[in-house]
Amino acid sequence: MMHLLSLVVSSFLVGQAHAHTFIWGVFVNGVDQGLNRGIRTPAYNGAPGQGGYNNSPVKNLTSIDMRCNVLGDTPNPYTIKVAPGDNLTFDWHHDKRDPLDDVIANSHHGPALVYISPDPPTENSFVKLWHKGLYVEGLPAGKWATTSDIAKNGGHMNVRIPAGLKAGHYLIRAEMIGLHEGEVSYEENPARGAQFYPDCVQIEVTGDGIVELPEGVSFPGGYDYDTPGVVYDVYCSTETTRTTACTTTYPIPGPTVWSGAWADTTSVPLNSVTGITTATAWSTWIKNSVVTSATFTDKKSLTVMGTSTYHASWSSTYQTPAPGTKRW
Ligand SMILES: *[C@@H]1O[C@H](CO)[C@@H](O)[C@H](O)[C@H]1NC(C)=O
Ligand SMILES: *[C@@H]1O[C@H](CO)[C@@H](O)[C@H](O)[C@H]1NC(C)=O
Repeated sequence: MMHLLSLVVSSFLVGQAHAHTFIWGVFVNGVDQGLNRGIRTPAYNGAPGQGGYNNSPVKNLTSIDMRCNVLGDTPNPYTIKVAPGDNLTFDWHHDKRDPLDDVIANSHHGPALVYISPDPPTENSFVKLWHKGLYVEGLPAGKWATTSDIAKNGGHMNVRIPAGLKAGHYLIRAEMIGLHEGEVSYEENPARGAQFYPDCVQIEVTGDGIVELPEGVSFPGGYDYDTPGVVYDVYCSTETTRTTACTTTYPIPGPTVWSGAWADTTSVPLNSVTGITTATAWSTWIKNSVVTSATFTDKKSLTVMGTSTYHASWSSTYQTPAPGTKRW
């Protein structure tokens, strides 16, 4: 039965799932921590044409998947130890952890953002450390963080652990937003809407810092469909029949960057990537698509044969990752 079901799902998704992105590795002060280590990697069952599809974007702003993506409540068995002042580089990729990988489709213009929260997150616990949007203004030739900065820099997104940050477990929520279908909200037209690619990294901050995070925002909840920058037309100036004015500035969604964050995120020289660089399937119940709920229908009779739903369950207390937990 499963064979038939996955066939139905895969044919349904052909042409939809492409060009998506997540974090494949983390460098700490230029030293690679290895494929998937410390990262709550979204479900991923291989690249298109190799028996799977990339993770789909999150578009529903009230979904729990906005927090740390699909299956983001599942701890990675490894937590990355860092100290205040350390420089982290997130290695974003699309199909493989390779300098030739496209990182994110060149149509997916949008901002990139980084938040930090105690682990586990609580109400309003995500504090913004960095963001970058349309950093060279002008349409349609402006430069966006996703397609011009991160994609052109090998998928590297930099963030520095705040000075004096109190020791403890934290989640870093890094995010890319694709605005290529963002001229209308998902609420108004579920076939379109801004595409969110959040991904969380587990860190343990060491040392004797005393700086506590201020109040931040919740995910879901940090953005709604009226938040400036969630609905935005990246194609504005290329359409000649338009009646409304086009803007060349872009308001990045979410709160302002915390004053305790470093003013500049500098890229540091990176050592080489260690270990394997290609993903293998890790989920058993997700076949080709990545969805939190899937209804499987018989192709001929159109009878619903089953529904598979994943219920995220975030604990309110810190969960020590189980060493044996396999995420791939
Ligand atoms: C969006 O997510 C919320 C919360 O999970 C859910 O209640 C709602 O049905 C979803 N909306 C759509 C259009 O799927
Ligand atoms: C992080 O990068 C900054 C800027 O290059 C540098 O001054 C600092 O020493 C780096 N931190 C560590 C721990 O290497």
